[in-house]
Amino acid sequence: MPTVKGVEFRNALGHFATGVTVVTTLDGRGEPVGITANSFNSVSVDPPMVLWSIARESGKRSVFESSDNFVVNVLSDGQVDISRRFARSGKSRFTNIDWQPGLAGLPLLPDCAARFECRKVYQYDGGDHIIIVGEVEQFDETGREALVFHRGRYAIVDVHPDADGNAPGSYEDDFLMALLMRATYEFVAPFKVSMAELDLSEAEVRVLTFLYGHGDCDLPRIVYGTMLERGDVEVAIDSLLAQGLSVQGAAQDSVVITDAGRSKVIPVLAIAKAHEERVLASYTTDQVFRLKRDLRQLADRSRKA
Ligand SMILES: Cc1cc2nc3c(=O)[nH]c(=O)nc-3n(C[C@H](O)[C@H](O)[C@H](O)COP(=O)(O)O)c2cc1C
Repeated sequence: MPTVKGVEFRNALGHFATGVTVVTTLDGRGEPVGITANSFNSVSVDPPMVLWSIARESGKRSVFESSDNFVVNVLSDGQVDISRRFARSGKSRFTNIDWQPGLAGLPLLPDCAARFECRKVYQYDGGDHIIIVGEVEQFDETGREALVFHRGRYAIVDVHPDADGNAPGSYEDDFLMALLMRATYEFVAPFKVSMAELDLSEAEVRVLTFLYGHGDCDLPRIVYGTMLERGDVEVAIDSLLAQGLSVQGAAQDSVVITDAGRSKVIPVLAIAKAHEERVLASYTTDQVFRLKRDLRQLADRSRKA
């Protein structure tokens, strides 16, 4: 067994993934005080008890030592900024935070995954930390996903493929082709309804949007870019030329969007963007990033397979 050295010990402990909390209380003058802590853990169900520990060297230690109550605010996955803010030294931790007073007036932070309002029942020496144990007098939970801390980095919860209840139930639940078609159908259906007001066929919208982003394009390029049948693209191009929304391009058999075409595309893009934002509203930034990255990779690998 190696001797316990600070950095290695911390690194090894970091393999134990935790949530992230901000523990709050009021100081002697009634001012809110809070500190980011991942040392939180459950202790007892009956009576309901929890614990956390505060560093002896923390500037907040004396406040928590002398306070009879504390609140454990379990942060949700959209609250990395709150975690960082309450881990930094400085006085402005509660600025612009719309906290509400809970039992005994203690600060309850908004948008958390869960909150535990506690009465302190024990306080123990824990080496360079003080262990604080509280009895939970009131709690709530919001259903938001929790923020995770693992190996010194913030992380988000993702259900393990082997988790109970995560096994695919049917062909549609597991067959990638069916999943992609279902997702595309459900995602696009409401957008098509909004498009109906624009006096353009679906193929015209797709060709025009493609031309908007790509300038002068020939037929094969438009077929590839719009993922439409060649015949449908030809019909759409004829119609766009007749409406003055596109004109013949410089190269052989190429077309280019006109100013009138651009004016037609701008509301389409706005509707598409608003639709995307609505659908992805419950995703975190990290989830959106991963979803798009994975879809790009899938398209790329499918093309090369
Ligand atoms: C994810 C994370 C977890 C932390 N957990 C604890 C903890 O459990 N106990 C603690 O005393 N400090 C913990 N800290 C550090 C404190 O938040 C930080 O040292 C403190 O807010 C600094 O201000 P202070 O000196 O005024 O206390 C943690 C920091 C982060 C980023």
